[in-house]
Order: sequence, then C-alpha cells, then structure tokens
Amino acid sequence: MTMLPSLIRVKNSIPAMDFSGTIIAKGPTALPNLEIGMRVFGVLETAAMLKGNGTLCEYINVSASSSMIMPVPENCSLEQAGCMAIGGMMSYLICKNGGIKEDCGLRILVNGASGGCGTIFVQVAKAMGAEEIAATCSSPNFGLMRELGADKLIDYRGQPSLQDRLAKDYADRPFDVIVDMVGNQDLYVNSPHYLKEDGVFVNIGDYTKGTFATALHWFLNTWWPRWLGGTPRNYKMFPPSFEPDVSVWFPSLIAKGQVRAVIERTMGFEEVLEVRDYFKYKRLNSPSHRLMTSSRRNGQEVGL
Ligand SMILES: NC(=O)c1ccc[n+]([C@@H]2O[C@H](COP(=O)([O-])OP(=O)(O)OC[C@H]3O[C@@H](n4cnc5c(N)ncnc54)[C@H](OP(=O)(O)O)[C@@H]3O)[C@@H](O)[C@H]2O)c1
Repeated sequence: MTMLPSLIRVKNSIPAMDFSGTIIAKGPTALPNLEIGMRVFGVLETAAMLKGNGTLCEYINVSASSSMIMPVPENCSLEQAGCMAIGGMMSYLICKNGGIKEDCGLRILVNGASGGCGTIFVQVAKAMGAEEIAATCSSPNFGLMRELGADKLIDYRGQPSLQDRLAKDYADRPFDVIVDMVGNQDLYVNSPHYLKEDGVFVNIGDYTKGTFATALHWFLNTWWPRWLGGTPRNYKMFPPSFEPDVSVWFPSLIAKGQVRAVIERTMGFEEVLEVRDYFKYKRLNSPSHRLMTSSRRNGQEVGL
C-alpha cells in the first residue's frame, strides 16, 4: 500500500499481491495446466496493483499470462501457500542474480532474514546447499531462524554498527554472497571488508527512504566506476518479474518439505484492518513475522 504514491493510486484500491485459492472459472487464454477446482497460489502482476485490483478479497481475476500462478503441492495448505509466493518469486531471482545453484557450497549473509522474503530465502539457500548461512534479525527470532537453517545469527539491534561487527567477524573469511532484505546502503558501501572480491551483493530491500533515493543508490552502486570511488563489489538489484521456471521450481521445494511458511497467527477476513494496524505498528516487537488473513466463506478458503 505504501509503495505506490497516493497520486497514482486508484481511490479505494484493494491492496495485496500474494494469493492462494481454488480456481472456479477459466478464461480462453488460461494455461492448459490450470483446471477448475485446482488449488493455486501466486503473485498478481504489478499492473493489477496500479489499477487497484489487489488480492485482499474473496474472488480475484488472474491474468495467467502476466501474473505468476502455480499449483499448490498436496502437502501444503492454502493458508501456507497464501504467504509464500512473493518469497518464492524473490528467492528465485536472488538465486539467479547471486549465482546460487544446487550444491552451491557458498557462504551467504542474509540481512533482515526473519521477514516474509527472508524466511523463505534462508530455507531455499539451505536447500541449494549453502555451506554457511549467517542471518541478521532481532534476537527473539533467533530460534525460528535456526529452525529454518541459519547457522550464525546476529542481532542487528544490539550493535553500534552492523558493518563494524561484520568486518571484525568476517574479514578473514568473507562471504560469497550478501542478500540484503532491508536496503542498507552502508552495508553495501562497507562490503569489501566482509564480501569476497568476486562476490555478489544482492539488494531487494526497501523503499522507505523514497523512490528517488532507491533509484539513485541503484544507479550509483551499479554504474559508478571504481576508479572514481565506487564500491569495488558487484551490486545487483532488480524489479519483481515472473519467470515461468519458478512455477515448477518453487512448488517442488515445498513438495520435498524443503520450504515451509512461517505463520504467526491466522486472522479472519473481517479483522483485516486489525491485521494492517498490527503489521504497521506492532510487528517489530513480535516473535515471528508472517501474518495472513484467511477467508472461509461458502466452503472456500483464501489465504492472502
Ligand atoms: N524488489 C522487489 O521486487 C521486492 C519484492 C518483495 C519484497 N521486497 C522488499 O524486500 C524487503 C523484505 O520484504 P519482507 O516482506 O521480507 O519484509 P519484512 O517481512 O518486513 O521483513 C523485514 C526484516 O528485516 C528485519 N529488519 C528490520 N530492520 C532491520 C535492520 N535495520 N537491519 C537488519 N534487519 C532489519 C526484520 O527483523 P526483525 O523483525 O527480526 O526485527 C525482518 O526480518 C522489503 O523491503 C520489501 O519492500 C522487494
């Protein structure tokens, strides 16, 4: 909701991009592998958000050619599937841009690991055979992150400077890949102290400093020459995009039990405003993070 400036937002926009549910009707251009009655999950295309057609409702119309839509594996509920699609899509893109492949044996730092994308990516990195996963989050989430596969944990709140702590602990064994879920520019600028010279810094994080600052950082980090003082480390940032391979790759990780959703609690559809307040004001104090709503009307269940 906060990513789109209100000027370009349709009044009374329906928020949310992730969805899960059951197909009740199929259009002529729908992919042949999609059948009525099938359980599916995915992410709506960005254009739907611009038109105000988000997923926080009971029925949605999904464009199968421009949105990401994939079958829900049998071992996964719609509630779980409803909060994993963006994490799956972003994890795929992080792996692609960060050179993380099966049996990779890489040492990876994940900054902001206990959120919606981080909890999925840490499990994916484990499944891809990462040799060591170091994760930053607040200490109440340490237990959760260990369960998901993190080897080393750092509380970003307990440090005068996260970069100094990393430089102290990892200067002699720098990471192969750093994945930033927060958008911490200082973490990138200081990365030569704890990221290998041929390593990759992948940033999917934040727009809280404004779209202009994000665009400027992306431009300078990507293009500013090293001989003019640019940080001498490879920087990758990319928009969300739906690649067909994800819809096979991600459900198979879930089916193999390698990735699961972290659900703090499930709330009714009529409580959605409370969810929004909780997400905005209380979540930093919460023990774990993924929050979802579900609708169970007419026997249909929709996770958002
Ligand atoms: N580029 C894209 O297409 C795309 C797509 C999806 C998401 N995103 C972006 O990716 C980011 C992650 O999304 P998300 O859904 O995972 O967010 P989220 O659920 O809000 O999680 C944020 C995480 O960051 C941690 N955190 C907060 N402040 C931190 C700091 N100063 N240093 C280190 N960690 C900190 C939180 O830890 P604690 O809760 O333990 O304190 C939490 O683990 C967001 O910025 C989102 O906008 C981008």
